[in-house]
Parts: sequence; C-alpha cells; structure tokens
Amino acid sequence: MDQRNGISQDFFVIKAKENGVHVIGLTRGMDTRFHHTEKLDKGEVMLAQFTEHTSAIKVRGKALILTRHGAIDTDE
Ligand code: TRP
Repeated sequence: MDQRNGISQDFFVIKAKENGVHVIGLTRGMDTRFHHTEKLDKGEVMLAQFTEHTSAIKVRGKALILTRHGAIDTDE
C-alpha cells in the first residue's frame, strides 16, 4: 500500500553538498506558498515525505536528492 491516511508512505532524501542548502516545503491546495524552510549545512541529511500539507518541495543549493524515481545532483 502506497498511502495511509492520505499521506504517501514514500520519502525522499536530501543530502547537502555545501553549507546553506534550503529545502522549502510548498503548501497543498489552491494556495501554493512556502510553509517551511529547512536549512542544511554540508553533509547534513533530511528525510521527508509529501503530506496533506506539503505537495511540492523546492531545493536551493548544491545537494543530492534521492527519490524512488531516481537520483538528482543539483550541481550537474
Ligand atoms: N509539517 C510538514 C508537513 O507535515 C513537515 C514536512 C513534511 C515538510 N514534508 C516536508 C517540510 C518537506 C518541508 C519540506 O507537511
């Protein structure tokens, strides 16, 4: 099962390759706005999910992003 309580059980991983990488969560629904900004320093790792509150994320800075769809290096 991929969903429970409307929340995807899937998660993604972001590993910062430099200081000051921002992971920005955008709200779900008609109003698309930033609701959370997490700042990661080099080597820090964040694991997160898409939730009923978060429909999209924006990553600013050099980071490795791992999802079940593949890996993205924002530096390349
Ligand atoms: N309170 C947020 C939520 O439940 C926490 C969160 C989940 C989040 N995924 C995120 C914050 C991705 C930033 C980016 O939706």
